[in-house]
Amino acid sequence: MDASMQVVPSGSAIGADILGADLSRGLDAATFRAIEAAFNERSVVCLRDQHLTEEQFIAFAKRFGEVEIIFLTHYAHPRYPEIMLVSNIQENGRNIGHVDAGRVWHTDMSYTATPPRATLLYAIDVPEEAGRVLGDTLFASAVAAYDGLPEAMKRRLEGLRAVHRVSGRRKKTGTGKEDNPLRDRQPDVLHPVIRTHPVTGRKAIYVSEGECTGIVGMEDAEALPLLADLAQRIIRKDYQYRHRWRKGDVLIWDNPAVQHIALRDYEWPRHRRLMHRITVGGSATY
Ligand code: OGA
Ligand code: MN
Repeated sequence: MDASMQVVPSGSAIGADILGADLSRGLDAATFRAIEAAFNERSVVCLRDQHLTEEQFIAFAKRFGEVEIIFLTHYAHPRYPEIMLVSNIQENGRNIGHVDAGRVWHTDMSYTATPPRATLLYAIDVPEEAGRVLGDTLFASAVAAYDGLPEAMKRRLEGLRAVHRVSGRRKKTGTGKEDNPLRDRQPDVLHPVIRTHPVTGRKAIYVSEGECTGIVGMEDAEALPLLADLAQRIIRKDYQYRHRWRKGDVLIWDNPAVQHIALRDYEWPRHRRLMHRITVGGSATY
């Protein structure tokens, strides 16, 4: 393992910086194991100060599992279909990437049958105003939220399954009109309300108010307030980590374990934000 590598926990329930790792070089097995262990333990890890080509970024992501091809093809990197551009930059009157990737609390692509294990963002351009960084991303631990549930509630939730629908969230925020036809082709999927993490075995609350439209076998009058209550329990301040971006960050989050939201406190053309995003495939939920 790279002797200079250091894992620095954030001080919050989740999150850590990993310093002294150079992802542009092929990592040896022990170094990757140390990064993966920190990722499993902290749910969100940031490798600072990276200088990566697209190939190097993709090669690193592949260490975590199968890299997915972007289905929102108009946001894909022009030469690398594994990379999605998350950006507010406009060229010729058109957004070059996805502008509102995370405006509400969510876990990535829960509307798919096998939601991604991990998402990686590589910060190419980070907006600033008078020396202050903008566009922070907030994360909250759905594992801590489960652990904090009253025992009676844990028992009540066991075995329940929620309906996840991609257009559920879109309808609510009125955003993403441009890609709605593509998204609307995704059929509804069911996931357990309490999900067991495929790697750590820990349980987490796995619902979001945006995507979840109901609970199987439960009237909406009961299900919708329950979903709202669960979603609210995840985003408690003491379960949160706030990521302040620096150019060169590679941030990785564990989708079964955390939810996240992007702050939109910047605007085009005053501020430029560009992230390269890769999702690593996951497995069926249980
Ligand atoms: C995402 C996402 C947040 C951000 O890419 O899935 O939610 O800060 N992005 O860009
Ligand atoms: Mn997201």
